Amino acid sequence: MQQQSRKSVKDLFEKAALYTKPDEFKRAGLYPYFTEFSRASDSAESEVILGDRPIMMFGSNNYLGLTTHPEVRAAAVEAVSQYGTGCSGSRMLNGTMDLHVRLESELARFMKREAALVFGTGFQTNFGALATITQKGDVIVADRNIHASILDGCLASFAKTQRFRHNDMADLEEILANLQADEGRLIAVDGIFSMEGDTANLPEIARLARNYGARIYVDEAHAIGVLGREGRGTAEHFGVEREVDIVMGTFSKSLASIGGFIAARRDVIEYIKHHSRPFVYSASLAPANAAAALKAIEIIEREPHRRHHLLSMSRRLRGELVSMGFRLIENATAFDGITPILPVVIDDEVLVCRFFWELMNEGVYTNPVLAPAVAHSLIRISCMATHTDQHAERLLEAMRKVGKKLEIIQ
Ligand SMILES: Cc1ncc(COP(=O)(O)O)c(C=O)c1O
Repeated sequence: MQQQSRKSVKDLFEKAALYTKPDEFKRAGLYPYFTEFSRASDSAESEVILGDRPIMMFGSNNYLGLTTHPEVRAAAVEAVSQYGTGCSGSRMLNGTMDLHVRLESELARFMKREAALVFGTGFQTNFGALATITQKGDVIVADRNIHASILDGCLASFAKTQRFRHNDMADLEEILANLQADEGRLIAVDGIFSMEGDTANLPEIARLARNYGARIYVDEAHAIGVLGREGRGTAEHFGVEREVDIVMGTFSKSLASIGGFIAARRDVIEYIKHHSRPFVYSASLAPANAAAALKAIEIIEREPHRRHHLLSMSRRLRGELVSMGFRLIENATAFDGITPILPVVIDDEVLVCRFFWELMNEGVYTNPVLAPAVAHSLIRISCMATHTDQHAERLLEAMRKVGKKLEIIQ
């Protein structure tokens, strides 16, 4: 066999050497990622400390502001005292504690489902659940704007994936109508789309699923604790919970922790529990994280005013930003369209980064979101239940000032 010198073969690391975009943005003083916060500056986490100055946080998914809630903190600390810091093993073997079982049964009760299953993260949940419940010969029919973890679950599955145009029900129907009778089909969507902040058209999806014999999987990561009379998310909001077969949630947003779960029929959960590789071959959730999520569920049920305030704050900010002249992605589905995510379209990545830094100079943190994560580059503002009228005023003032300076509004 002919030997090849190292120089004559393609270097695997060439792509890394050619990837200079972050450095270019850093040199231009525009790089907006990996900002280092040191701590929450107030008990409600609506302000954080950056260097030595407080910054208003309008970029967190901690929608209900529970990560610093005294009872959630205390529950996590107590779990560390009682169980230690980790479980050092898979749930299937040595890693199941009574805390995990309690958490799953509370999630099932809260979500009004027969059973629930907890994973290490939300990403792992989508990845593990989707790749397991579908198999060769099945088809996953997914919205084009689904979260990366759903897409990766589709890619890891032996099922075929077909994407429909974002929230385009005619396109969805056309795909469903062309499937073969022996193809099992699962429609997969985000309840609230994470970057655009709009909702899936679940009533119509439910109707199509009924007509074409499809199952429905809804990622309620951004909707649990936020939408629905009791905070169960988009399906509850639209009154179609019975039609949704598998609901997914994460602890990294309103549930003030880290981890994820699915809730569904008992046999579906049992199947995934025994077959999902990211569940079986990964260590179980740390006790503190499980305890924090458990406490957060209790508070969500006990304190609905948090989500009411969150939504009325979001409604007000959306209205004011639009009347200032900003373009926000609208919710095309037939309801009032209010979610805590306010996507301000800028459509130019350099301008988005400049906008981000100008807002930082005004003491406001938001999330710059650039293509290809989204179709339109945007500033993603996210509201929290702990934002006060004063925070809202300061945000609006900063948006007006920066919007005018960068000539995005008049
Ligand atoms: C819609 C959606 N699904 C899933 C995830 C993953 O959740 P986690 O952060 O818990 O891994 C996210 C988080 O970014 C998300 O926005």
